[in-house]
Amino acid sequence: MSRIVKRAAAIAIAAATAAQAQAEDIKVGLLLPFSGVYAALGEEIEAGFRLGLDSFGADSGATFEILREDSEASPPVGLAKTRKLIMQDRVDVMAGVVSSGVLAAIRDVVDGAKVPLIVANAGNDEATGKACSPYITRISFSNAQLNRPMGKYLVDHGVTKVVTFAPDYAAGQQMMKAFGDAFVAAGGEIVAQEFTPFQKTQDFGPYLAKAKTSGAQAVYAFYAGSEAIAFVKQYDSFGMKEALPLYGPGFLNSQLYVGAQGAAAQGIVTALHYVPTIDNAANKAFVAAFTAQAGHLPSEYAVQGYDAARALVEAVKSGATDRESLAAALPRTSFDGPRGKTAIDPATNNIMQPIYVYDTVAGPDGPTQKVLAQLPVEVDPVNGCEMATLN
Ligand code: PHB
Repeated sequence: MSRIVKRAAAIAIAAATAAQAQAEDIKVGLLLPFSGVYAALGEEIEAGFRLGLDSFGADSGATFEILREDSEASPPVGLAKTRKLIMQDRVDVMAGVVSSGVLAAIRDVVDGAKVPLIVANAGNDEATGKACSPYITRISFSNAQLNRPMGKYLVDHGVTKVVTFAPDYAAGQQMMKAFGDAFVAAGGEIVAQEFTPFQKTQDFGPYLAKAKTSGAQAVYAFYAGSEAIAFVKQYDSFGMKEALPLYGPGFLNSQLYVGAQGAAAQGIVTALHYVPTIDNAANKAFVAAFTAQAGHLPSEYAVQGYDAARALVEAVKSGATDRESLAAALPRTSFDGPRGKTAIDPATNNIMQPIYVYDTVAGPDGPTQKVLAQLPVEVDPVNGCEMATLN
């Protein structure tokens, strides 16, 4: 080797070593339910998150270390695990959170400790409303965002008298309020409302019997996870679907559990920010990559994990390295992904995105989603959010 070549090689090695020393190790605290009624949602969000890091993180110059904790979808457990991740594990950023109740419980801790949180599910309206924080960026949806448009949609489609059903906790209450306000404003009437004990109701029979004789034209319901599987199956086996068509946010018949619901899921018209049948190139690539990795089609929960990882990687690529710089960069992420064009609203740090209304129909491999309408991008009102500036 000539002296010049040797010297060039030495410089190259020194540069590579310096780059390695600069490479960031980002510690991510992933807080999700891995047990209880929302366990499947936690697994699905994690699978999407890991795929997102693999897909977008390779050329970021950073390594991502994931520390996962089971929130059990319980506010006190979620709070204890958050404290552990922040104080003991010293994570740089947190991601996840499925339950609106857990998000409410951990809000003050992440805000006070100045740890950025990427919400990958929990729709709690207050977290991007009057309890908003510059440390909280929501990449999933808000409870009102998905339910408000359905109020008008139902009235426009001739449905004016409904009974509502939801689990009795923050998400159920907020979703039914947003739907109900829009439905009544459009001329609809809420005949009755059922709030069933969260994580405790297995038999919906007594509630369904009441709805049948209520004089309503339809039922509007939110359930998710194993509660959605039980509700949709019992609704069908009670012979309710013919008399009272079923509507709701699409967690009710998510791709994640239409397989378990089978034919009982057919004919339910719902709304979501993502279904695997959305026809765009980014979604086709995502569906192929996720299916190859997970062995099943992705649901909205998968895309929320995937986009949460993408937002994190974008923030790192823009130069963010620690809690404070990540918190500043995360709300600035925007991209054209599997659900279409999305961006974060700087007034609230909630995502702005199109909403898809769809019917669940029989497909060659089981129930599938037929998109009936793409509604315009939904932007939440600020709902009392006064966004603090980062210092
Ligand atoms: C929530 O608690 O915010 C929540 C949980 C499950 C869903 C949607 C919202 O599918």
